[in-house]
Amino acid sequence: MSNGSGFTIWFTGLSGAGKTTLAELVAKELRLRGSRVEILDGDEVRANLSKGLGFSKEDRDTNIRRIGYVSRLLARNGVGVISAAISPYRDIRDEVRRSIEAEGGIFIELYVKCPVQVLTRRDVKGLYRKALAGEIGQFTGISDPYEEPLHPELVVETDRESVEESATKILIELERRGLLSPADEVWQDMFQDQRHEALNLEIG
Ligand SMILES: Nc1ncnc2c1ncn2[C@@H]1O[C@H](COP(=O)(O)OP(=O)(O)OP(=O)(O)O)[C@@H](O)[C@H]1O
Ligand SMILES: [Mg+2]
Repeated sequence: MSNGSGFTIWFTGLSGAGKTTLAELVAKELRLRGSRVEILDGDEVRANLSKGLGFSKEDRDTNIRRIGYVSRLLARNGVGVISAAISPYRDIRDEVRRSIEAEGGIFIELYVKCPVQVLTRRDVKGLYRKALAGEIGQFTGISDPYEEPLHPELVVETDRESVEESATKILIELERRGLLSPADEVWQDMFQDQRHEALNLEIG
């Protein structure tokens, strides 16, 4: 049921909201259940496929179009694709959706939502402090726009949910859409320890 059909789940949200954390946890669970998965993470894409691009709207759009293009190629070959980039602009997210859906692909927009005040406190990478001090320009949510999704298929609120709760919401949504086999009881027993170990590693 799950293993043949590719899809793209498109995480969008501010820096530090939890895209990478959740992408890795969800990917791990998908793999444990036998799905083929690729994560296209914003930081990694910028270090490789989009090396040299900056943070103007034009460069951000180019970056997102590239991720969309690779997602489309992978998903149509049966891969579950997780895109985990800020993707701040609604028009380009919608454009990517249209390009994937035009050829019958599945596109699920996931808003990884967290207020900027909480992110400033969390400041995982120390970037908010620098952005607020004016040391980094064009920082999404501080000195550059973030356009919230209007009709995302799913929202996780990472200021109110634990990492495990948010990941579970995503997995349930994929199950509900028939994109992921539910872990049956036998299977759960067999891998429970492994799954807990994986979760514990992620949460630290
Ligand atoms: N429900 C949750 N889901 C995800 N992360 C959470 C949640 N609650 C707290 N966190 C914490 O928030 C931080 C999210 O950082 P992460 O690097 O995943 O963000 P990101 O969205 O990938 O940022 P960036 O766009 O800069 O790459 C982690 O420290 C994580 O432990
Ligand atoms: Mg990240």
